[in-house]
Amino acid sequence: MKKLFQIVAATMLISASALSLAACGSDKVDSNSGNGGKIIEIGIVQIVEHPSLNSIREAFVARLAEKGYEEGKNIHIDYQNAQNEQTNLNTICQKFKADRKDLVVAIATPSAMAAAGTLTDIPVLFSACTDPVGSGLVKSLDKPGGNVTGTSDAVSAKKIMELAKRITPEIKTIGALYNSSESNSIAVINELKEFAAENGMEVIEGTVTNTSEVQQATQSLASKVDAIFSPIDNTIAAAMPIVTQVAENAKVPVYVGADSMVADGGLATYGINYVKLGHETADMAIEIINGKDPGEMPVRTISDVEIYVNKKTADAIGVTLPEDVLSEAAQVFGE
Ligand code: TRP
Repeated sequence: MKKLFQIVAATMLISASALSLAACGSDKVDSNSGNGGKIIEIGIVQIVEHPSLNSIREAFVARLAEKGYEEGKNIHIDYQNAQNEQTNLNTICQKFKADRKDLVVAIATPSAMAAAGTLTDIPVLFSACTDPVGSGLVKSLDKPGGNVTGTSDAVSAKKIMELAKRITPEIKTIGALYNSSESNSIAVINELKEFAAENGMEVIEGTVTNTSEVQQATQSLASKVDAIFSPIDNTIAAAMPIVTQVAENAKVPVYVGADSMVADGGLATYGINYVKLGHETADMAIEIINGKDPGEMPVRTISDVEIYVNKKTADAIGVTLPEDVLSEAAQVFGE
C-alpha cells in the first residue's frame, strides 16, 4: 500500500512538473522561433558587476546564440544585477518567481543561494559557484536532486600557494583577504590554512563584509604580512583595483583565485577559464530547456587550470617572475 502510494505520488509529481514547465512559458509567439513558436523566458541574476562574472554571462549568451537560441527569436533574457546587495537579490528572485520564468540562471554563489531559496518549482542553473555542496546548493555534485544544478569553478588554494612559493619563496606570513559571509571563499580559505600549517606559515585574517572595507583591510594586512592571498571572492574582485594600488605601494605580492583578478593587478593565480565555464553553463541550460531534470544533472567543473601572471605588477613591486613560470603561463598580463 505504502509502495503504491509512493508510485502514485511520484507520478503526480512528474505530471505536475511537466504541467508547470508547459504552463510557465509566456504567451508570446514568434513564427521564427523553431521552438513551437514559444519564447523561453530566462532570468539571469548576478550579484555584482566584475570582469569575471560579466565574461561568464557574455560567454553564456554567446553560446546560446551559437546553438540557435537568440534573444527575441526564441528566448527572452531578463538580466538583473544586485549591486552586491542581499536585499536586491531577494527582490530579483521574487520577481522571477512571480514572472514564472522557465529557467533562472544565477551567476556566483550569493545569487545562487538566493535563487535556490526562493524558487522551488522553477529550474535554477547556477554558474561559477566555488563550493556548491558547502554552500548548501546541492546535496552532492553527482546527484544534485531538487531543482538546482550548475557549474563550479573550484580551484585549489594549495596549487596557488605552490605557485606563490615558486615566485616569492620567502613567505612566512600570509594575509587572507576575503568576505567572511561569502561561502564560496570559506572552503578555499580553509585549504589555505591547511597549506600554511603544513608549510610552517602563519595566516593573518583580513575579513571584510563589503567593498567599502577593502582598502582598510588591505592596508592593515599589507603592513603585517609577506604576501596576501585572496580567494575567488566577489567582494574583493569588485574592489581589485584598490587592492592592487595599496599592495603596490606596500610592495606586497597578492596571490588570487581568478584570472580576472590578475588582469586587475593581482600578481598570479592558477585558475580556470571562465569563458569555458560560461559555455558549459549554456550547454546545461539547453538541456534543461529541452526537458532534462536539473536534479539528475551532475554539477560540471572545469578540470584544466592554468597559470596567469601580471608582469606590470611584478615590476611595480620589484619581483622577478621566474622564466619557467613565464613559459608555463597561459597568459601574461601587463606586458
Ligand atoms: N566563484 C565565485 C562564487 O562562487 C564567483 C566568481 C566567478 C568569482 N569568477 C570570479 C569571484 C572571479 C571572484 C573573481 O561566488
